[in-house]
Amino acid sequence: MIFKWKEAFSCSIPEIDKQHIKLFEIGSELYSIATSKDGLDHYDEIMGILNELKNYTVEHFKYEEIFMAEHNYPGFLEHKREHKNFISKILELENKEIDDNQSKVTLDIIEFIATWIQNHILKNDHKYKAYLLDKGII
Ligand SMILES: [Fe+2]
Ligand SMILES: [Fe+2]
Repeated sequence: MIFKWKEAFSCSIPEIDKQHIKLFEIGSELYSIATSKDGLDHYDEIMGILNELKNYTVEHFKYEEIFMAEHNYPGFLEHKREHKNFISKILELENKEIDDNQSKVTLDIIEFIATWIQNHILKNDHKYKAYLLDKGII
């Protein structure tokens, strides 16, 4: 399973962990539908969940950005730029690729999202975690 939550992803902020866990849940739902071997066409369902994942990600990013700004996190702008680039990339993939060669492209996109989210949490989200820990805020 590529969207598997691990304790190592924790940011030590319950609301943020909750949101990350929810992202992993939506991601694994997407993955299991995209890999289902029941012979049915799941295109609409996949697009629906992909859209849900995108919307929830946008919401989560907003929450994180407000949170970072409230705590005067010095890496705020750089972090916000990472979020923005990811959303642009998703929109781009969504618009041009998922039409032919459906299952291969869908799995590539899911893998891209899973890898991005995991790396982002471990590298970028954990940077504000380190800052907040250092400041004694969490
Ligand atoms: Fe995050
Ligand atoms: Fe983030």
